[in-house]
Amino acid sequence: SHSINLAVIPGDGIGQEVVAQGLKVLAAVLPQDVKLETEEYDFGARRYHATGETLTDADLESLKKHDAILLGAIGDPSVPSGVLERGFLLKLRFAFDHHVNLRPSKLLPGVATPLAGQPEIDFVVVREGTEGPYTGNGGTIRKGTAHEVATEVSVNTAFGVERVVRDAFARAQARPRKKLTLVHKNNVLTFAGHLWTDTFDRVAQEFPEVTTDYLHVDAATIFLVTDPARFDVIVTDNLFGDIITDLAAAVSGGIGVAASGNINPSRDFPSMFEPVHGSAPDIAGQGKADPTATVLSVALLLRHLGHEAEAARVEAAVEADLTERGAAVRTTDEIGDALAARVAS
Ligand code: IPM
Ligand code: MN
Repeated sequence: SHSINLAVIPGDGIGQEVVAQGLKVLAAVLPQDVKLETEEYDFGARRYHATGETLTDADLESLKKHDAILLGAIGDPSVPSGVLERGFLLKLRFAFDHHVNLRPSKLLPGVATPLAGQPEIDFVVVREGTEGPYTGNGGTIRKGTAHEVATEVSVNTAFGVERVVRDAFARAQARPRKKLTLVHKNNVLTFAGHLWTDTFDRVAQEFPEVTTDYLHVDAATIFLVTDPARFDVIVTDNLFGDIITDLAAAVSGGIGVAASGNINPSRDFPSMFEPVHGSAPDIAGQGKADPTATVLSVALLLRHLGHEAEAARVEAAVEADLTERGAAVRTTDEIGDALAARVAS
């Protein structure tokens, strides 16, 4: 396509600063004949305080017309916990059916890891994004009493599990090592666990070149620390994926470099790309935030829209920049400028 119509949601805190760098790099990497149009949206804490709104039906209608969404970070200590999480981020993921939550982990040269030695880390987690315990399917009775009973039901549909498992197999098939690990807890969560395992085994028949593996989620956390090289592609449910991708980020350079895509592969709705980190209000406005995670999210965005060559250029620029950066401390803007210069040349 010869134009990109992008919704930009800087959001709160450092979201503003890092998104500016992401846009700088995006503008620099696109060829002359690809027209970039952007429209900025003011979602987040300020809008919530001013209007009480997080994300309205009208907002969703406007967002729908874009090719993709670039999000900085949403969240502020002045807003009660859960309001923006459910009212904005999860609402958007569910409304646009972002069922593939893609979170690559690659330990890049020059990047520190708390693990011993310099392990090879290059895997991608395909986290289911629209089901599991995130659906809000639960309730409480006898609230506030000593006999309160609260449930939070994990929803797993054959349709939802199969489409994300299939997506993960296709991604594994396209990678050199062609290995896919299912992470679940089917020794305890027998209903959902068996749906996942049976679906995984069935879809595997269609991908004979892909080596398959299964790990319980607790064991997976051990291997993410002791032997991360064993992973190539991981597929897992929404909550397990939330937890293991924070661990994955921690061992592969930290949240300063962790990128993510909330993807609807059908392109019926725009996919959304965001750094895994939050709004970091403690360092907001000081030029201290590392925009690398946002820039790598821009690479995922470019790849999703079919601009593979440009995505690869952005990733190569980040790799070169990190190698050269070493221990030097640079501002958010300086890093963005350096990356933009690299992708343009
Ligand atoms: C993430 C976040 C969200 C999640 C929260 C903020 C709702 O932790 O993107 O990983 O749990 O998905
Ligand atoms: Mn998370």
